[in-house]
Amino acid sequence: MKVLVIGSGGREHALAWKLSKSAKVSKVYVAPGNAGTALDAENVPIAEKDFDALIAFAREHAIDLTVVGPEAPLTAGLVDAFESAGLRAFGPNKTAAQMEGSKVFCKRVLNEANVPTARSHVFEEPEEANEYIQASSMTDFVVKADGLAAGKGVVVCSSKDEALAAVKLIAEDRAFGDAGAKFLIEERLTGQEASVLAITDGQTIMTLQPAQDHKAAYDGDQGPNTGGMGAYCPASLVNDEKLHWIEERVLVPTVVALNRMNATFKGVLYAGLMMTPHGGPRVLEYNARFGDPECQPLLSRLQSDLYDVMQATIDQRLATLEPLKWDPRPAVCVVMASKGYPGSYEKGFEIFGLEDAARLPDVKVFHAGTKLDENGVVRTNGGRVLDVVALGDTVADAKRKAYEAVSKIHWEGSWYRTDIADKEINANAR
Ligand code: AMP
Ligand code: GLY
Repeated sequence: MKVLVIGSGGREHALAWKLSKSAKVSKVYVAPGNAGTALDAENVPIAEKDFDALIAFAREHAIDLTVVGPEAPLTAGLVDAFESAGLRAFGPNKTAAQMEGSKVFCKRVLNEANVPTARSHVFEEPEEANEYIQASSMTDFVVKADGLAAGKGVVVCSSKDEALAAVKLIAEDRAFGDAGAKFLIEERLTGQEASVLAITDGQTIMTLQPAQDHKAAYDGDQGPNTGGMGAYCPASLVNDEKLHWIEERVLVPTVVALNRMNATFKGVLYAGLMMTPHGGPRVLEYNARFGDPECQPLLSRLQSDLYDVMQATIDQRLATLEPLKWDPRPAVCVVMASKGYPGSYEKGFEIFGLEDAARLPDVKVFHAGTKLDENGVVRTNGGRVLDVVALGDTVADAKRKAYEAVSKIHWEGSWYRTDIADKEINANAR
């Protein structure tokens, strides 16, 4: 069978790598891919937004399954376009992908389903929002642009002044364009965050093992927010009892509410959760795809055939599959980034040491922002450049192996957090 993966980041490299391991899969293409996917699959120079060219390629090459990695093509209706063309694509359709594409839609589903989440109000007029903030008894708010804003449309505020400034940024200055035509103001929750992802066909839910992302740029969760500087899996913060609770109180009612709203969700439903100290887990957001970088440690541990799971999702046959099988060893993923990220950064630096790192046992280096130049040299091509994943007998062992691999790799200005998974290691030590 032939597979086409759409996207160009570490998540897509992990998807292509994992799908290529299926006994059923003979060929994996990635559009447009990166220097890493060029090694584990074959790159196709088509942009993820060029639906017509992607459909033409899938037809011409008799692709049996197309897997959409990022949110933008999902919310723009790539899966619908493939289906209309008689092609099979894994991921939610445009209506269901609004769970990520519109925070207002997502909140409506959460409230319909009675899923625990932060209390919030929807606004379209900045003046009304300003009055609401001034009159509120709260001081801490979170202001969120409704639409996709490349992960930047959420402002966590510690004072009324900050909240007023966030409203101005999103709704008046339109820093994120039309994504700020509507916006939410919600109560600020506290606690540790966890990612619980599930594959669902709209009838059956296969929950993946819980993971934890590290969103802050620097050690000790300091500095600006990023797309994620590392992740590990499983995260004991979500123990079996909590995971079961999250399935029953969060995932099942969400999937049922989406069905009731004629928005049946088929794909990866990713709950971003705040484990609040008193109120239990609460949903911060839903994403409509695998998390990046959570996908990399998750798929490094998944032993089941992902191709089978994805095809069964499209046909709503998940209930007929065996439960997912996991490598019992934990996985730790360290992101290596460009100097300046998450602010502006330069691209094009030669990356050294990839082969040395690849020789280490239980290590896989997924590429995120890389590119092969005309001489076949791997160069940086993004802010998050590499995702170094290691499996270990314990989380501490996995961390040690991941950082040993990281120490082999460098380029001008490369940097990384040095404390990925420490929260888990410290919790285990207690
Ligand atoms: P979201 O895109 O909604 O997940 O927001 C991005 C990040 O903002 C989350 O990962 C949290 O760190 C933070 N966040 C979002 N909503 C809240 C909230 N209600 N309280 C505290 N932090 C939040
Ligand atoms: N790791 C966060 C995200 O994928 O949205």
